Amino acid sequence: MRQDHLITATQLSRDDIEAVLDRAREVAADPAAYMDRHAGAVLALCFFEPSTRTKMSFDTAAKRIGADTIDMGGVESSSVKKGESLADTVRVIEGYADAIVLRHPSEGAATLAAEFVDVPVVNAGDGAGQHPSQTLLDLHTIREDHGLDDLTIGIMGDLKYGRTVHSLAAALTNFDVRQHFISPESLRLPRSVRFDLHETGAQVREHTDLEEVLPELDVLYVTRIQKERFPDENEYHRVAGEYRIDADTLEDGKEDLTVMHPLPRVDEIAADVDATDHARYFEQAHNGVPVRMALLDTLLGDDEGTEVDR
Ligand code: CP
Repeated sequence: MRQDHLITATQLSRDDIEAVLDRAREVAADPAAYMDRHAGAVLALCFFEPSTRTKMSFDTAAKRIGADTIDMGGVESSSVKKGESLADTVRVIEGYADAIVLRHPSEGAATLAAEFVDVPVVNAGDGAGQHPSQTLLDLHTIREDHGLDDLTIGIMGDLKYGRTVHSLAAALTNFDVRQHFISPESLRLPRSVRFDLHETGAQVREHTDLEEVLPELDVLYVTRIQKERFPDENEYHRVAGEYRIDADTLEDGKEDLTVMHPLPRVDEIAADVDATDHARYFEQAHNGVPVRMALLDTLLGDDEGTEVDR
């Protein structure tokens, strides 16, 4: 990778992505070859917001490459509760760990943290900003089904606040992918993300109706519509109902359509989709382990014990 920190998917080139995903394939094929590779290394898990998948899969990934983990604990049980700044917190933790995984409710938090420390920082979600390690596992999941070129991908749901969407959309500009964004008008992609996509020359279209585009899609990436974003609960229920899929909805999709979701889901994908050949979201979550093993292996240093350039 060109940079030691992983803060945003926009920093990733096609070569960067393919290098991590190639390594993830190797890891998945022969995990034993990576065991103990980073014995003695310590990964700090600093989660200022709840997480199941990201935190636990980084924890597992670190342990499977021989590293140990330390966990800051929630905000309530750390000195953040006493008013310690993020900058001070990470400056202290870099003395305990070889890399820091940071989730924070504020957009830009990982960028700020990276300015204060020399160890690699991985942005595990910063508010409505970015979630680039999620993107790597999303791309791995897509690649294993379809490859990453000459694809039509629909991304549906809360595109305004969905950080997984912002990262995925940026990363897909490295590939020959037609991107269709499907959302209510009020939850369209932020102007800044649309601007960046247009600057890259990405093939992008926006829709309010999934039916318009479903038959063309190779991948449908569904995201949760966040109830807390709606001042009026009735409006939330109206919007959420319109962007819910079930097995019947997918009758109009391609036979090999892949349905993904970063999870957690609420009810935007009905349970009857789980049993279809389209559902890939649990496998996607499981892919977090080999992909994060590959990422940590890259950030902590190569197999000769050489550190990545900083
Ligand atoms: N996909 C994802 O970020 O899930 P968590 O919030 O559980 O980490």
